[in-house]
Amino acid sequence: MKITLHRAADRGYYDYGWLKTYYSFSFGEYYNPNRMGFGALCVINDDIIAGGHGFDLHPHRNMEIVTIPLEGKLEHRDSMGNREVITPENIQIMSAGTGIRHSEKNPDPNQAVKLLQIWVRPDKTGVVPRYNMLPIKRRETYNTLTEIIAPDKQSGGAYLHQNARFNLGCFQPGHSVNYQISGEGQVLYTFVISGSYQTGDTLLKERDAAVLKIPNTCRSNRVKNMGDLIKSLQWRYATKKFDPSKKLSETQLNELMQATALSASSFGLQPYHILVITNPETRQKLRPVSWGQAQITDASHLFVFCNMVKPTEKTADVFIDNVSKTRGVPKETLADYAGMIKGFIKNMDDNSLKGWTARQAYLAAGNLMLAAAHAEIDTCPMEGFSAADYNQILGLDDKGLNAAVLVAVGFRAADDPYIKSVKVRKPLTDLFTHLK
Ligand SMILES: Cc1cc2nc3c(=O)[nH]c(=O)nc-3n(C[C@H](O)[C@H](O)[C@H](O)COP(=O)(O)O)c2cc1C
Repeated sequence: MKITLHRAADRGYYDYGWLKTYYSFSFGEYYNPNRMGFGALCVINDDIIAGGHGFDLHPHRNMEIVTIPLEGKLEHRDSMGNREVITPENIQIMSAGTGIRHSEKNPDPNQAVKLLQIWVRPDKTGVVPRYNMLPIKRRETYNTLTEIIAPDKQSGGAYLHQNARFNLGCFQPGHSVNYQISGEGQVLYTFVISGSYQTGDTLLKERDAAVLKIPNTCRSNRVKNMGDLIKSLQWRYATKKFDPSKKLSETQLNELMQATALSASSFGLQPYHILVITNPETRQKLRPVSWGQAQITDASHLFVFCNMVKPTEKTADVFIDNVSKTRGVPKETLADYAGMIKGFIKNMDDNSLKGWTARQAYLAAGNLMLAAAHAEIDTCPMEGFSAADYNQILGLDDKGLNAAVLVAVGFRAADDPYIKSVKVRKPLTDLFTHLK
């Protein structure tokens, strides 16, 4: 059993004035590659919303959203006509499914509302949106862990479209509890709302969290999913006409960034940078230098993969630093590896170097498209643009970067004629040769 600690102080913290928030996992502007969620759990935001303020009406798709108020009141409104005020006596659950818009406001001008906002990735997309508010029977949580959210409707209580359970417990000093997790790949995530508790030799204090994971030793699930992946790749196509009204949710964007960041690269150097452009004015400027292609302005997000024109010894040093910190190994033990990377870079002429870094960027673009297809998000890879103009408009020259390839990301327009195009690919026999 592996235990990973997430200390309260290590969370991302943002102060937006009306909202003060601690992010357990990467969210919005907070990006931490080591905090990308666990299993289906992808967001825990510990929000404090000032009196009279809140989140305006905004959209979600395909996400299970649980809100647990800790202090104060929260007024919920949504596109299904629900309007309710919740307090620490309730929890709120939403399935965003095919799409929901909601606002969450603090109706009390004099008291802040404190709440946990938790997002769980659903096990199926496109479910009918729903909203539920349910009472928490706090008395039942005393000195025991009580299931407050179950994985299925049949439980009669709060449920999620995911094989996930939420338990709540309120313990007096000296009490202990055993909780059984079973099944490979199962994850137990404990989060201390207040007080402290001990697991093994470790003391967890307020807002600390511990992740307990049963290692995955069996590959059978992954193998089973291969058919799904091929279906996703057949479903995807280079989208020509995006629906400009459909936007990626923050979670979708975050997940696509995670998948892209996990791309393999030569030495692991990732000699590129990726711009994610939503700014409409910038995109209007880019369209004429992209053969006028509509994807540039109409897709939800435009990813510009920029390769480093000339990585230097410093590029290698920054990478080695990261390896040393992430893996907890002294830099001296990586000296030979550092020397190899620097030697490789030094021995290449400028053109070869630029080509090499661009190829790394293309791999990342490929991963982005694969991940998007897996999540039923559309993409169009694009080379039809003037790199020189992109470099000038986006100020890339000064940063030693070059626009290598674009990926427009969003959702297909229902009338894109290319949806119906049959895939044209070489037969496997032409594409592969077995040398046995
Ligand atoms: C590197 C690269 C650049 C591409 N550039 C463009 C482009 O500028 N505009 C466009 O509409 N499609 C572009 N495509 C899409 C290809 O034409 C498309 O992937 C190919 O015809 C196969 O079709 P499919 O992806 O729909 O299966 C590009 C694809 C790749 C991989």
